Amino acid sequence: MPLDIVIGAQWGDEGKGRAVDLLSKSSQIVARYNGGDNAGHTVTVGPKIYKLHLIPTGLIHPDVIGVIGCGMVLNPQTLVEEMDMLRRGGIKINPERLWISDAVQLITPGHRLLDRAQDAALGNGKLGTTGRGIGPAYTDRASRRGLRAGDILDLEFFAGRLRAHLEQVNLTLTESLKQPGIDIEYVLKEYMDYAVQLRPYIRRIGPLLQEALKDGRTILAEGAQGTLLDLDQGTYPYVTSSCTTAAGVFSGLGLGVQPVRAVVGVVKAFQTRVGAGPFPTELQGDLAVFLRGTGANPWDEFGTTTGRPRRVGWLDLVLLNYAREVNGLNELFLTKLDVLSGMKEVLVCVAYQRNGDTLTSLDFSGDARMLDGCMPVYKTLPGWQEELRGCTRWQDLPAAAQNYVKFIEEHTGLPVKTVSVGPERDALLYRD
Ligand code: IMP
Repeated sequence: MPLDIVIGAQWGDEGKGRAVDLLSKSSQIVARYNGGDNAGHTVTVGPKIYKLHLIPTGLIHPDVIGVIGCGMVLNPQTLVEEMDMLRRGGIKINPERLWISDAVQLITPGHRLLDRAQDAALGNGKLGTTGRGIGPAYTDRASRRGLRAGDILDLEFFAGRLRAHLEQVNLTLTESLKQPGIDIEYVLKEYMDYAVQLRPYIRRIGPLLQEALKDGRTILAEGAQGTLLDLDQGTYPYVTSSCTTAAGVFSGLGLGVQPVRAVVGVVKAFQTRVGAGPFPTELQGDLAVFLRGTGANPWDEFGTTTGRPRRVGWLDLVLLNYAREVNGLNELFLTKLDVLSGMKEVLVCVAYQRNGDTLTSLDFSGDARMLDGCMPVYKTLPGWQEELRGCTRWQDLPAAAQNYVKFIEEHTGLPVKTVSVGPERDALLYRD
């Protein structure tokens, strides 16, 4: 009864879609347990590129069941659009293949408006959220006034809850934020329509997953965002509002605690971040442009959800070791090694200098202010000039690229089992 978990080991956008796509081949159920349509997973299948924000990427495999767990926040509009997009791409979507937790919280246009207005109101201190309503939806959940997917099974009850929510949002928008209010009747009509479409997909997920595990089926939990964006363990307050670490899988799926087979940390060969917050190894200038790309290619470092250019920097092994600890990672999946080709030398952060001390591990839980005071200490490794795109086996990699991977293994104590060397689905090398 194997349960595997795929986690972003950095600030999100590590290429988790690649790892999930690969592991989905040997899984029967792929379940998302955190976040909402702030996530963006790109999967390239032949000539087709799927950009998914909400639906588990594993659903692209015909025999996989996709699950939207209760730890997520669900925007019905995005879900309905993604279902249509996948259907147009020839992928079967029906209630047997897609299960929505009855306990998942719903995002409304009210949450989105609040998110944008509240972040803008922070001025220079703004977090740079994706504007998808994530924070306000999780706030409503914690305040016990949220709307749950199960509510739509009773349309009259749901309409009453939704109206009360929108009235509350309008009060905040107009009174505190001095913004125009929302058209309540319009949203009510729109949401009744979504409710009718989504009703057949709603399930009590926990027992179904428990039963699947007992039957020997493999469940893959697909993390969204990354460890350093975790609400508690991340670079607070520059974080998202959900549990992005492996620990969130159980509560986020309504599953009892049980052994996990693989906790795969997906890590990019360099570091990226969207939005505000500390980033000790951040680069500017030509090197940054080199790593980011121009935006001409879908795999360049521009946000899948917002299109924003990502901040880029050298790989930070202090933070990667932190991610290993807080998730209990037992293997790594390294992405985008090909992007480093052409560099004379490659730097890797192995420690920080803070107030005259050298730190090789974090002695605090990601706190943004403390990380701001950390200066990276780098190890310089030789670069390589060869293109990696054609490599199909580990032995094909130039020695310097192999050394880079081995250096990561030595400094984390984790095996790098898979390396991606191009955007194509099969541009993967296996270490064994
Ligand atoms: P929110 O999740 O929209 O509230 O945004 C909070 C922070 O998390 C911002 O810095 C976002 O840029 C960042 N963030 C949220 N989702 C993702 C993601 O999927 N990838 C990378 N960054 C993300």
